[in-house]
Amino acid sequence: MWLLIALLWLAVWAAGTYWYLFGKPSGFSLESVRPPGPREFDQKKRDKIIKQGFSANKVPENLDVIVIGSGIGGLTAAATLAKAGKKVLVLEQHDQAGGCCHTYIEKGFEFDVGLHYIGQVHENSLLRIAFDQISEGQLEFQELNPHFDTIVIGQGGDKREYTIVSGKTEMKSHLMKQFPDDTEAIETFFKIMKVSAKKTHYLATLKLIPQWLSLFLLKSGIANLVSPVFRLSGTCATDFVNNLTKNKDLQVLFSYFFYGVPPKDSSLLINALLFHHYKRGAYYPKGGASEIAFHIIRTIQNHGGDCLVRAPVSQILVDDKGAAYGVKVRRGPEEVEVRAPVVVSNCGVFTTFEKLLPPEIQVKQEIQDRLNMMKHGRGSLLVFSGFDGTEEELGLVSTNFWLYKDNDMDKSMDAFFAMSKDEAPDNIPMMFVTVPSAKDPEAKLRHPGKSCMTILTMVKYEWFEEWKDTTVRKRGDEYHDYKMRFAKNLFDWACTLFPKIKDKLVFQDVATPLTNTHYLGSQRGAMYSAEHNLERFYAEAVVKNRCNTPVKNLYISGQDVFSCGIAGALHGGLLCASTVLDHIVYIDLLLLKKKLKRRKAKELAQLAQKKLQ
Ligand SMILES: Cc1cc2nc3c(=O)[nH]c(=O)nc-3n(C[C@H](O)[C@H](O)[C@H](O)COP(=O)(O)OP(=O)(O)OC[C@H]3O[C@@H](n4cnc5c(N)ncnc54)[C@H](O)[C@@H]3O)c2cc1C
Ligand SMILES: *[C@@H]1O[C@H](CO)[C@@H](O)[C@H](O)[C@H]1NC(C)=O
Repeated sequence: MWLLIALLWLAVWAAGTYWYLFGKPSGFSLESVRPPGPREFDQKKRDKIIKQGFSANKVPENLDVIVIGSGIGGLTAAATLAKAGKKVLVLEQHDQAGGCCHTYIEKGFEFDVGLHYIGQVHENSLLRIAFDQISEGQLEFQELNPHFDTIVIGQGGDKREYTIVSGKTEMKSHLMKQFPDDTEAIETFFKIMKVSAKKTHYLATLKLIPQWLSLFLLKSGIANLVSPVFRLSGTCATDFVNNLTKNKDLQVLFSYFFYGVPPKDSSLLINALLFHHYKRGAYYPKGGASEIAFHIIRTIQNHGGDCLVRAPVSQILVDDKGAAYGVKVRRGPEEVEVRAPVVVSNCGVFTTFEKLLPPEIQVKQEIQDRLNMMKHGRGSLLVFSGFDGTEEELGLVSTNFWLYKDNDMDKSMDAFFAMSKDEAPDNIPMMFVTVPSAKDPEAKLRHPGKSCMTILTMVKYEWFEEWKDTTVRKRGDEYHDYKMRFAKNLFDWACTLFPKIKDKLVFQDVATPLTNTHYLGSQRGAMYSAEHNLERFYAEAVVKNRCNTPVKNLYISGQDVFSCGIAGALHGGLLCASTVLDHIVYIDLLLLKKKLKRRKAKELAQLAQKKLQ
């Protein structure tokens, strides 16, 4: 047995070394990172990049890769492939690129739709290096107040407030101060966070090496000997947390980043990773979320590719041999064919397999097997509010608020999602409140004297389904009144946190699951595409849910590959690019990290010497 393990290890090591030495280089390099240029404030110039409409004559010739969907996942895959020498075209159905990273401006207020804070972008972190590569150093992040989240549990007189701060050691010690009787539980949870953060790449690697090998490593138990991460991934968060502590409030805190699945149906690994994500600080893109697409598209263009919007892909073209060779783009009544030997889909597994593949391919068992592994995720409801007044005048802060009416998340979420359409708006169990204008230091320059707030909760698609065939902005009074019932309750609840906003409200808009379907092309209004349920994170499911698909030359990118979040989807893009290139681009990133570390050490040494002289 041990001999076999040793032999296998040697084989994997040899293969890895071969890849490392002879694999095609990805095009990532320190030289491609420039110091950030001045911010482009001219909306027209910005629109030229992020709102370039599709027409057949704008399609570059001799394309190597088509990417469907311009979310962070698709753009990451596209920029990585472009830098590796591929000619790439990104096609986006909306009139603006960016997917969840797009922003919209209405009456002088700018709202981001799917980026409220991001972690792990401190200097020389792997994620930061990846961002620098795909934006050629142009993306800048503002570190937020170390006190980045407040969690309020309970209502009325029985309200408890907890605060979360970032910091290598402060995060843990600050939590311990608030739960002095549970220091051991917190210690254990932070150990789990550390293992999760350090070893999740093992799980990701299982998606890159041949599937049979991954399954063998798991089934033989070898994987579990190597690291506990494979088991953590399939461990139920509630089961684990209940064993840690009897304190119900602390149990909530261990799972407070709510992404649509109650803790009893979620993976301990994912919940721990989310907590860890902000340990070294919470950040916000300077200039707003739209900077992300703006700069990554420029990288793609610099390497001969492009991104075209108003380009809804209606079908992936598949030849007699079962290989993808292009897509059809809908232009009014017509359809335009765009061809390329590789198609990357970043619009989710459900859209890709159920809507875009030709019917005769969809019915194939391998496709159905992939679909059966995933469920549709929950929908979201967002209230966008605009105020006349600065954050100082209104008492607004950059800290996010998570409010939970009850400290039994499993029970309250189940109860809510079991409610009828009519009961739901008056019984919302949780919400997230965030003030984007207080995070971006440049928001004051772009929109002086104005502040904006986004409130978010998760809802069931079925409550809104009856209006699914109506058109956006013309869905009728009944729909409007129904969504406003949610909005009023949420906004009143937010006013308990920030009483001064009530009289200064000058703009309000409400997004429902149907809004997600329209602007993000999501199925059943899902907020994070496929559901992040526990079964999805069983190690074997992680292996099978890979970037290659049963259709040759068709690859999956984005949040459905591993996990949601800007970081999660970006990794989905890197994993996808690695699969397409047959070269693990993470190796290049790690090499860059080493070089940067050395460079930094040198700089520090020189500085020290100068001081001495
Ligand atoms: C309200 C909200 C708040 C969030 N907050 C945070 C946060 O604070 N921090 C964080 O890290 N993450 C957050 N997230 C999650 C994060 O934004 C997403 O997980 C991530 O951006 C998804 O990226 P993606 O590239 O996989 O998909 P998307 O960004 O969804 O991109 C998919 C793209 O495909 C396009 N598309 C779909 N169908 C077609 C078609 N047929 N043809 C052409 N194009 C098509 C869509 O229009 C879309 O642009 C939030 C998400 C939401 C919705
Ligand atoms: C919780 O504790 C019980 C009893 O000790 C044990 O059987 C179970 O495996 C534990 N669950 C987890 C997820 O650690």
